[in-house]
Amino acid sequence: MTPKTQRSLIIGIRRLVNVDDGWNEQMSHLPVIEGAALLIEAGKIARYGKEETLKKELAAEGILQSITEIIDIGGGDILPSYCDSHTHLLFPTSRETELFDRLRGLSYEEISKRGGGILNSARKMESTSDEELLENALMRLDQLVRNGTGTVEIKSGYGLTPVQEIRMLRLIKELKKHTPLTICATFLGAHAFPEPFREKRDAYVEQIISEMLPVVAKENLAEFVDVFCEKGFFSVEQTERILMASKSLGLIPRLHANQFTHSGAIGCAVRQGAITVDHLEVMNDEEIELLKHSRTMPTLLPGCAFFMSSPYPPARKMIDAGLQVVLASDFNPGTNPSGDMKFMISLACLKMGMCVSEAIQASTRNGAKALLLGDSRGSIGIGKRADLQILKPLPSLEYIPYAYTEPLVKGVILGGNLLNINS
Ligand code: NIG
Ligand code: FE
Repeated sequence: MTPKTQRSLIIGIRRLVNVDDGWNEQMSHLPVIEGAALLIEAGKIARYGKEETLKKELAAEGILQSITEIIDIGGGDILPSYCDSHTHLLFPTSRETELFDRLRGLSYEEISKRGGGILNSARKMESTSDEELLENALMRLDQLVRNGTGTVEIKSGYGLTPVQEIRMLRLIKELKKHTPLTICATFLGAHAFPEPFREKRDAYVEQIISEMLPVVAKENLAEFVDVFCEKGFFSVEQTERILMASKSLGLIPRLHANQFTHSGAIGCAVRQGAITVDHLEVMNDEEIELLKHSRTMPTLLPGCAFFMSSPYPPARKMIDAGLQVVLASDFNPGTNPSGDMKFMISLACLKMGMCVSEAIQASTRNGAKALLLGDSRGSIGIGKRADLQILKPLPSLEYIPYAYTEPLVKGVILGGNLLNINS
């Protein structure tokens, strides 16, 4: 006997947000169906439309009778789950003392030079057990689920030795087994120069290429490679070497770029065919022009600009230039200890002049594209994975950025499974 297909019908949807029909490349265009219903079959979105019409169609086709569960969300909205394409959420401990060093006037670079920042996390990484790292990361992931995220990228980069970098990536692989979230892994051995290589930076680049990358590839530990290409960190030349070697092993490049300076990282990313450039707190017209003629998507991390009191990326200019902007959290202990994508949407609207439609596109559809998952995630489309957030009844979509500390998610569906989140 063939097992009965799991079929769930969601009804009572006030707004079904970011559907594929009627979508065009314009970020300000957010297709919405009002008074909708949605059918999930075997974990995927099978049908959707106006509730009355869909019910009639399903009845006529004899499908309505075979529905295994009906979920009435009572006038709430449904959004695709957020796809957070940039995090460092596997880390040993918080670093709140550095926040106060900064508030007293030290710069991020000065804190790094004194052994704080990334090196501080790398030291603690070594002395923290696998169990503790996993437990803490799982708690963070659980919070992300409650906040509406369905897909998350996680970087290594607090190891900075062959042993610890590979350990981090193996732990990220382990995390995948214990969470309903989709996790993508990025190798970020080139996050900072560890102490022993302070005076011989090229030797560390060599170690990344000859000792770390081959293991990453052999054990299939990451889909992406990232480099912190920045003054005081990895030069353009070093970045290019790492990216070339990574690409030859099948890894897809993305870069930390233009966080503090016009370091040449944008040109480097475009030349190397990077899928994204992330940060962009400093960005000039020529750099925007370069992105216009490339496949490289700009990823903005407004939580980081907020926490660091740095300038916000010029989102408006980029969107008006026709670029497909991505929003991500950059969840990490140093520059943004938050993975709350709704807060990123609030910052995008309040601080970067984005409209709510653009901010939702940037954190769902474009987030998925930034992880090369646009065919299966990030919007409501037939055949896509049923990764959905159920919001409580809202007066309007503008209420999402407006209510910047109010939890709005009242249910989450991941891979077709309804999770009880008791929010
Ligand atoms: O994206 N800029 C480099 N990396 C992180 C910060 C990591 C840390 O401070 O621990 C970032 O901001
Ligand atoms: Fe980052």
